[in-house]
Amino acid sequence: MKVRKAVIPVAGFGTRFLPASKAIPKEMMTIVDRPTIQYIVEEVVASGIEQVILITSEGKSAIENHFDYNFQLDHLLRDKKKERLAEEMNHLSNLIDVVSVRQKKPLGLGHAILQARHVVGDEPFVVLLGDDLVLGEVPCTRQMLNLYNDVGESVVAVQRVPKEETYQYGIVEGRPQSDRVHRIKRMVEKPAPGTTSSDMAIIGRYLLQPEIFDYLATTTPGHGGEIQLTDALQALANQRGMYAYEFEGTRFDAGDKLGYLKAIIAFGLRHPEICENFGDHIKKVAKQL
Ligand code: G1P
Repeated sequence: MKVRKAVIPVAGFGTRFLPASKAIPKEMMTIVDRPTIQYIVEEVVASGIEQVILITSEGKSAIENHFDYNFQLDHLLRDKKKERLAEEMNHLSNLIDVVSVRQKKPLGLGHAILQARHVVGDEPFVVLLGDDLVLGEVPCTRQMLNLYNDVGESVVAVQRVPKEETYQYGIVEGRPQSDRVHRIKRMVEKPAPGTTSSDMAIIGRYLLQPEIFDYLATTTPGHGGEIQLTDALQALANQRGMYAYEFEGTRFDAGDKLGYLKAIIAFGLRHPEICENFGDHIKKVAKQL
């Protein structure tokens, strides 16, 4: 069945980014000339998905506004003869169909995804976490869809991380199946050091069969007292099977100070308007170190 819908949870407080995220959603923080959430939505669009379902909370309306048509702005730009910019803004509001659903209580990532159940219905869908930006030739979501077309079961994107960092991630243990693909045996959310031999960390890209909602509905609070997506994934993997996919590309944790700065450099060096001057500047700075 064609994968048409993407769920993007954006309800979290963004405590890792305070005070910057106190009054604006962390998803609206800028990388070069667009907010991080726009990169995520552009990945979805480039992968052929047709609808985005945002899981929001109070204070996140700036995200909805960003993808909406702004009548006043359109007229102002056209009055000032800034047609090109007006067109760009219109393009943004026509990128993709965006709907939003509220997560009324901050009960965890699993609970956030469960809120999309009535909008997703009985079809496979993708989940993208707003903190994880992936740069690559082929959009990460597209790569996962390609694998799904082969295997017909759920897929989670993974990357190898240093052993001392595994406690920060959902970790997957599996059996190699083919190049970059592993059949999942066990998954554990933020394992205590020394409790897993695997270094395969889940990054924020999932392609899920709709049965995940049944498991999410019965998942009890796990790590950190939250309803964890990883716990429901384990149940789904046991029932239907699931694959871990080592995607091609570079992932940035834009929800972390250092990761955010790295993302700015990477995206800045690829931005057609500024890449040359920015590259020269970076070289100059590097020499001074
Ligand atoms: C979430 C998931 C975790 C995953 C991580 C990737 O954790 O629960 O399994 O490895 O995203 O970014 P969070 O970073 O939201 O605590």
